[in-house]
Amino acid sequence: MTAMKSLIDKLEKNSVLSAEEYTQLIKSFTEDDAQYLFDKAKKIREKYYGHDIYIRGLIEFTNYCKNDCLYCGIRCSNKNTERYRLSKEEILDCCKKGYALSFRTFVLQGGEDPYYTTDRMTDIISSIKKLFPDCAVTLSLGEKSYEEYKAYFDAGADRYLLRHETADNEHYRMLHPETMSPENRKRCLKDLKSIGFQTGCGFMVGSPYQTAENLAEDMLFIKELRPDMVGIGPFIPAKNTPFEVRKSGTLGLTLFMLGLTRLTLPDVLLPATTALGTIHPLGREKGILAGANVVMPNLSPVSVRKKYLLYDNKICTGDEAAECRNCLQMRMKSIGCSIAVSRGDHIVKQGAKL
Ligand code: 5AD
Ligand code: FES
Repeated sequence: MTAMKSLIDKLEKNSVLSAEEYTQLIKSFTEDDAQYLFDKAKKIREKYYGHDIYIRGLIEFTNYCKNDCLYCGIRCSNKNTERYRLSKEEILDCCKKGYALSFRTFVLQGGEDPYYTTDRMTDIISSIKKLFPDCAVTLSLGEKSYEEYKAYFDAGADRYLLRHETADNEHYRMLHPETMSPENRKRCLKDLKSIGFQTGCGFMVGSPYQTAENLAEDMLFIKELRPDMVGIGPFIPAKNTPFEVRKSGTLGLTLFMLGLTRLTLPDVLLPATTALGTIHPLGREKGILAGANVVMPNLSPVSVRKKYLLYDNKICTGDEAAECRNCLQMRMKSIGCSIAVSRGDHIVKQGAKL
């Protein structure tokens, strides 16, 4: 038994490690240690979710953004991005197609676009909920005020995704313009939880300047916040951004962080992200085998897909929703899993006693 394996055993037993212990694992794990972690992570996923993989239909409804995050392809100072917005009718049409393909969660994701005022957003949310009362609506629209989040919730939105990007305040400032602060990011997450959203945070692996200590802080941050979902994907450079010449995060470290997350928050909803599928052809399958239990294929109209490029070489930008749905079904089957036709709520919110 290596020192790393004993740490993994300890994490399995206590669902938490100290910052030093997480750091040591992240710095020193071998491929053999990683496999040891993934086997445990997969067993824990199966204990809570069986062989079911939840799907979310992602609707990228605007690529306008008032922010200027240094890593992001749709940052406002990227003048090479052709901007688009979807109308309410176009969004509802995506939901209709998605519903027929057995999606029961719709994720509305966009840049921070002032065009979508609280009134416009709540109208879109309540229209989706009225047409599809058995579906969950997830929002991923960035930082807003408490009142705005509350209005979305009252209009029927169920969940909200806002990655914290990095729990380390200094690192956060290196990735964002001065107009954004780690304090406000964390305030948003606390507001979302207190309003009653199923809340998701998350971070990129291998982002510029990131250290093993930073990733250890991310683990302690999620332990403290107790989100319902955690989105983790590799950083991938995007053309025409300050980080365009940086290296991508690696498959190995991203998978390892997924495994650590499954052991730290055993029942969490954990997507195998599109970014993971972008850095390796079998990235999403490997993500599931490292403990993930959600996939989020794209429902956006193919005509706009190539415009929502947060990073380069994004997969599935030419594929119809039905193609991705079938593709993922096969991919999940190939690793002994199957896609569930269900809202796929966090297990605590399904009423299960833990
Ligand atoms: N590489 C990987 N992920 C990125 N995101 C934004 N830009 C990139 C990039 N270059 C992620 C951020 C954001 C989510 C919607 O996409 O973590 O929260
Ligand atoms: Fe989109 Fe495979 S998931 S083509």
